[in-house]
Amino acid sequence: MLRSIIQTFRSMADKTQYDIQKETHYNNNLCDALAEYGRISRQYAQLNIFQEDTPDAGADDIRVIELFAGVGGFRVGLERASSRFVTVWNNQWEPSTKRQDASQIYCNRFGYSGHSNEDISKVPTDEIPAAELLVGGFPCQDYSVATTLKNSHGIAGKKGVLWWEIHRILKESMQPIPYLMLENVDRLLKSPARQRGRDFALILASLSDLGYVVEWRVINAADYGMPQRRRRTYMVAYHRGFNPIGEAFERCDDKFHWILTEGVEAKAFACEEKSVKKRGEFDINGDLVKITDEFNNNPKSQSTSPFGSAGVMDNRHVWTTDVEPDYNGPRISLGDILLDEDEVDESFFINDDEIKRWEYLKGGKKEKRLTKDGFEYDYSEGPMAFPDKLDVASRTIITGEGGKGPSRFKHVVLTPNGRFRRLTPIELERLNMFPDNHTEGASDVRRAFLMGNSLVTGIVEKLGCSLLSMIMQ
Ligand SMILES: C[S@@+](CC[C@H](N)C(=O)[O-])C[C@H]1O[C@@H](n2cnc3c(N)ncnc32)[C@H](O)[C@@H]1O
Repeated sequence: MLRSIIQTFRSMADKTQYDIQKETHYNNNLCDALAEYGRISRQYAQLNIFQEDTPDAGADDIRVIELFAGVGGFRVGLERASSRFVTVWNNQWEPSTKRQDASQIYCNRFGYSGHSNEDISKVPTDEIPAAELLVGGFPCQDYSVATTLKNSHGIAGKKGVLWWEIHRILKESMQPIPYLMLENVDRLLKSPARQRGRDFALILASLSDLGYVVEWRVINAADYGMPQRRRRTYMVAYHRGFNPIGEAFERCDDKFHWILTEGVEAKAFACEEKSVKKRGEFDINGDLVKITDEFNNNPKSQSTSPFGSAGVMDNRHVWTTDVEPDYNGPRISLGDILLDEDEVDESFFINDDEIKRWEYLKGGKKEKRLTKDGFEYDYSEGPMAFPDKLDVASRTIITGEGGKGPSRFKHVVLTPNGRFRRLTPIELERLNMFPDNHTEGASDVRRAFLMGNSLVTGIVEKLGCSLLSMIMQ
């Protein structure tokens, strides 16, 4: 189905999504995004690897800095939104391995020019060129879905402190960077468990003190027709009064109207308010140390975060509410992105003698287990779909998706010939709306890891499109 949709839209293939939007009054449906997906896929197929040149940005271009770049999810999405987004500098360094697969893949796809493969905390700000937009999915290991919220150490944790590298770059930049687009896990709004919302309050307060208005939304890509259920917090920020969006925000008297209709995120992802009763409005007071110590640190209220799934903050004042998606366009399911059975290497098929183990791991359980110290405890968990349903969007890809070993969390599909198999790297790329073979060059296990760490590029594409149309207004 995906292929036929792409085919249908090939005639639009030479235009960027922003151009198409202007011509067709983009009506919140995925067709043009899919057209671009097809266009970019073909373009990458022709790219020389180790291509050296990054084009210089022209006068009307929006120069982009991509931090924590991974394999370039933001870049893929923004370039599909418009050729006006030109990434002039990017940084990716994996602290846990000697091999730098993500950095290598990034360079294979986009060239070495403007690429930095160094620990960002060691890069002096004056080595980073001027830009209009800074993007990045800052590391989220401390809050990731693989660990429980209870065990998370939030932003004060080991890896979470990298937020302060973004902050440092914004603070030391010679000229304020007018726009930011940031991504993190949905639990960012609720972390840490003892002081719900404290980490997000720190981020908002620190950006406010640097002059930014910040919008946020928790967006599940599948709610807007994309092929993966992946809920993430997306922040879009604009420097106060420094640019057309900041000015439009100042002119808007009803900030809830901004959250629901007028803002960058609302224009990209139409939504409805769940209930007016869910609205909240409050100030984030005090310096960052006081916020760290005191935000929501009241035993009576600490069980809930004050941040709803959508909101905006200006001058330390927060408007927030809970929203739900308003989307009736086309949808891509897991079945739509699968390769034909004969295109899949035998290593992805599950042998008959392994099926029982997979069934056990995927199944519901109520059993006695022993701790490391030999204490017996009751263990229970519900069943997972086995095989995965093909007529809906897939579950979230996690970093452990690759490898032959049976697992509760890896996807398993049933082929038309009645065989069970895991997903291939290309299929994982498609679930994040990357071009086919984007991560080629690394091992299959690593490619799966990189996709588990990345994002659904269609979200960035739509946000980029919305940002651009508001800048150009
Ligand atoms: C959540 S992933 C972002 C993935 C990216 N958005 C993509 O599309 O692939 C965070 C990235 O930050 C990188 N990282 C972690 N610590 C870093 C550091 N100190 N300096 C630079 N990059 C770092 C990780 O290797 C990882 O690729």
